[in-house]
Formats: sequence, C-alpha cells, structure tokens
Amino acid sequence: MTRLAGKTALITGAARGIGLAFAQKYVSEGAQVAIADIDMARATAAAARIGPAAIAVEMDVTRQDSIDAAVARTVAALGRIDILINNAAIFTAAPIVEIERADYARVFDINVAGTLFTMQAVARHMIDAGIKGRIINMASQAGRRGEPLVAVYCASKAAVISLTQSAGLNLIRHRINVNAIAPGVVDGEHWDGVDAFFAKYENKAPGQKKAEVGAAVPFGRMGTAEDLTGMAVFLASDEAAYIVAQTYNVDGGNWMS
Ligand SMILES: NC(=O)c1ccc[n+]([C@@H]2O[C@H](COP(=O)([O-])OP(=O)(O)OC[C@H]3O[C@@H](n4cnc5c(N)ncnc54)[C@H](O)[C@@H]3O)[C@@H](O)[C@H]2O)c1
Repeated sequence: MTRLAGKTALITGAARGIGLAFAQKYVSEGAQVAIADIDMARATAAAARIGPAAIAVEMDVTRQDSIDAAVARTVAALGRIDILINNAAIFTAAPIVEIERADYARVFDINVAGTLFTMQAVARHMIDAGIKGRIINMASQAGRRGEPLVAVYCASKAAVISLTQSAGLNLIRHRINVNAIAPGVVDGEHWDGVDAFFAKYENKAPGQKKAEVGAAVPFGRMGTAEDLTGMAVFLASDEAAYIVAQTYNVDGGNWMS
C-alpha cells in the first residue's frame, strides 16, 4: 500500500526497536524517512538495510544545536518534513527513596524536553513551509498511571500526554495535527532493560518479569514493534485529519481510558 506516498518523515530514536519498525513501515507505505538517533552506527546500518528511501541523521534530542542540525539536514536531504515521530526515550526505575536527581534530570531531558523542543523545531519548519503536518509523540501506558518502582519514567510519559494535548490545541490552527500513541509492553531491547531493573528490585530471575507482563496482557502476549505500526500510519494519513490532541492506547487491552 502507499498511504504515505510522497510524504517525508523524521523519526527520532529510530535506529532500533519501535522507531525502526515505524521507519520500515513508512517506507513500505511510500514515504521517505530520516532515521534520527544518537547511535549513528546503528542508524546508518538501519538506513542501509531499508534502502534509498531512508537516510541516517545524527541527533541528540537533549541538545538544541543537534535538534536544529537534524531538522536542517533532513530538510536538505528530503526537501521537507511532513511527519515527525517523537520516539526517542529512555527508561529508568527505582523506589522513591532511591531516586537520584541526576537520573530524573536525564530522563526528563530526553523524554520530555526532547519531545517538546523537537516538536517546536519541526513545527516552525512546517509553519514556515505551509505544510499541513503530522506530529506523533510516543507516550506509554506508564503515562496513564503511576507504578511503585517507575515514578520518574511514568511522570515523563504523563508529561508527553500533556504536551500532546497542549501542542495539539495550539498547532491545529496551522493544520498541524499532534497526537500520541501509548503502547503497553513491547518486546525488544528496551524491555530487556526494564526486565533487568525488575530483576534487581523485585528479586526476579532474568526474563521472569517479561513472562509475567506478557501473560497479563488481555491479548495474551507482549506486543511487538510491528503491532504499533498500523496506528502510526493511520495517524499520519489523510484519514486522521480531524483527530487532534489525542493519545491512543495500542496495548492488547492492558489499559482503558
Ligand atoms: N518498548 C516498550 O515496551 C514501550 C512501551 C511504551 C512506550 N514505549 C516508548 O516507545 C518509544 C520507543 O521505544 P523502544 O522500545 O523502541 O525503545 P528503545 O530503547 O529500543 O529505542 C530507543 C532509541 O532512542 C535512542 N535514543 C536514546 N537517547 C537518545 C537521544 N538523546 N537522542 C536521540 N536518540 C536517543 C536510542 O539510541 C534508541 O535507538 C519510546 O518513547 C518508549 O518510551 C516503549
């Protein structure tokens, strides 16, 4: 299918995991994509595997100069940015009494400030170029409620949902639609890290937490990155033109709101 024919997308954190699956799916739908990541080696390898419709772009979403350079490089290489997916994020976990200020600052710098200031840079480009753009932010079921060991990451994803609402309301006057996707538990390297945190704090064997959360999903298993790609295409497509400032759960039934 070619639901995104002629569109260009900048996807942050796309060197692996969900962002990479989005890049692959977008190209299969006719788009050109910029795989933007702090990990340039993997971004370059990913773009080479996908083919000429993909480029690798160096980007650290915590640095304004890097955000601006990544946007400029994408526009120079692909001509314009029609779609932004704010996907780069990191996870952390600790009991409240052990949270370290530096860890909190790092998570909020990437997950929240990175999302806000990348949205801002790309929205400026879209407004200047008169582009009816789409911005998709990656939230999480973690942003829907707190968890005893995951206060900082949960709060960062709640902030992403809130930023999606405010930016969505502010930017729709420019015909830029801002929405978010809230995944549940998606298998991959991210969840390998989550599993390791729970092994430490809940005394679980490696892999045990993954098995438990997978079994608890109403659908009957953890999600895959590919399970999320349909929503990412839909929100970027013409069919989603009247959808503004929303966050959609794509989580096998884990959460209802
Ligand atoms: N995997 C899950 O279960 C799950 C669940 C809910 C939400 N999410 C969200 O979905 C998104 C993608 O998750 P994933 O599982 O693919 O994660 P991942 O950890 O596999 O990939 C994250 C990517 O972001 C990049 N990155 C990290 N810091 C960066 C920075 N400062 N600048 C640019 N890039 C940076 C990493 O290099 C990596 O390629 C994230 O926003 C995550 O919070 C994931």
